[in-house]
Amino acid sequence: MKHIAIFASGGGSNAESILQHFSTHEEISVSLIMTNNPQAGVIARAYRWQVPCLVLNKKHHQDGEFLAAQMQQHRIDLIALAGYLKLIPGPLIRAFPDHILNIHPALLPKFGGKGMYGMNVHEAVILSGETHSGMTIHRVNERYDEGEILFQAKLAVKPGWDAATLQQEVLKLEHAHYAKTIEEVIGG
Ligand code: GRF
Repeated sequence: MKHIAIFASGGGSNAESILQHFSTHEEISVSLIMTNNPQAGVIARAYRWQVPCLVLNKKHHQDGEFLAAQMQQHRIDLIALAGYLKLIPGPLIRAFPDHILNIHPALLPKFGGKGMYGMNVHEAVILSGETHSGMTIHRVNERYDEGEILFQAKLAVKPGWDAATLQQEVLKLEHAHYAKTIEEVIGG
């Protein structure tokens, strides 16, 4: 059996689609959910799927050795970031070379980097008049949003769309592709 940990800070709709995808898988399971936010919607999702969930305080989410030890204890093979808003500490990245993935709601390298998360990304895309947006799944290294790109899906931004519409449409692409890409990476 291979084991996935999901790190999420918010509602967790991507976490939900990953939990759903692997719920019937015979060789891969979601074995741990980590959040830094005690109000995060992902906590209720973890409870419903009966997956252990750790709520990290400030000291712990910054402590790479602590996080790596938690991963080891749950025999985690791959970490999927799904709307996780804290920086992953270096020691955790070094403990999982090439095995931490992130999903970003735009076509990196555009609209990435500091401050580019959540609605900020979609607002920036709409303001810039881009004709296309999409989503990117990439490996996480020690430079924000700069790891190897594994998968991108693109959509046309239709006239009249606002940032909220764009967010909804991008989320559909995220839900369609993240779990499959995780499965490819973890499967070898
Ligand atoms: C997604 O748009 C993801 O790309 C970004 O944060 C958002 C998380 O949404 N990193 P959700 O919590 O999975 O609904």
